[in-house]
Amino acid sequence: MKILMVCLGNICRSPLAEGIMQHKANELGLDWTVDSAGTGYWHVGDLPDNRSIAIARQYGVDITGQRARQFTAADFERFDKIFVMDTQNLRDVLRHAAGEAHWSKVELILNQVHPGENRSVPDPYYDDNGFDRVFRMLDEACEAFIRQQV
Ligand code: 4NP
Repeated sequence: MKILMVCLGNICRSPLAEGIMQHKANELGLDWTVDSAGTGYWHVGDLPDNRSIAIARQYGVDITGQRARQFTAADFERFDKIFVMDTQNLRDVLRHAAGEAHWSKVELILNQVHPGENRSVPDPYYDDNGFDRVFRMLDEACEAFIRQQV
């Protein structure tokens, strides 16, 4: 299974989602590839935000090997599943989609926990206290997904 996590900057939310899902897959001995990307270009090459690194570390997940990159249409071919963090990411990603085979790979990650509700993971960039809540939301969503696969 190859999974891509997508947010806007690829420095706060999707690096956490990548780290959490990869960590869970590794723990279960699953040979999964998990990556992340941003719809924006501003942070390409950057490490995850220090606040994401810190909260992940608190939960035993190391995301310091990650560097931000931008989402491209080629990602539709390289990944089986593309999880987006919010409804704006959903629109931005689907703008690059060519046909049903691409469309069907894309899903809001919180629909794993709240099916059909199309909830967004709040952007914690301007909220220092938002990172713990975001971590726990993503952990719950990743757990729900991986439990359906094993
Ligand atoms: P992310 O958060 O999409 O969760 O990585 C953001 C990080 C940076 C910016 C926006 C969102 N920014 O505009 O620089």
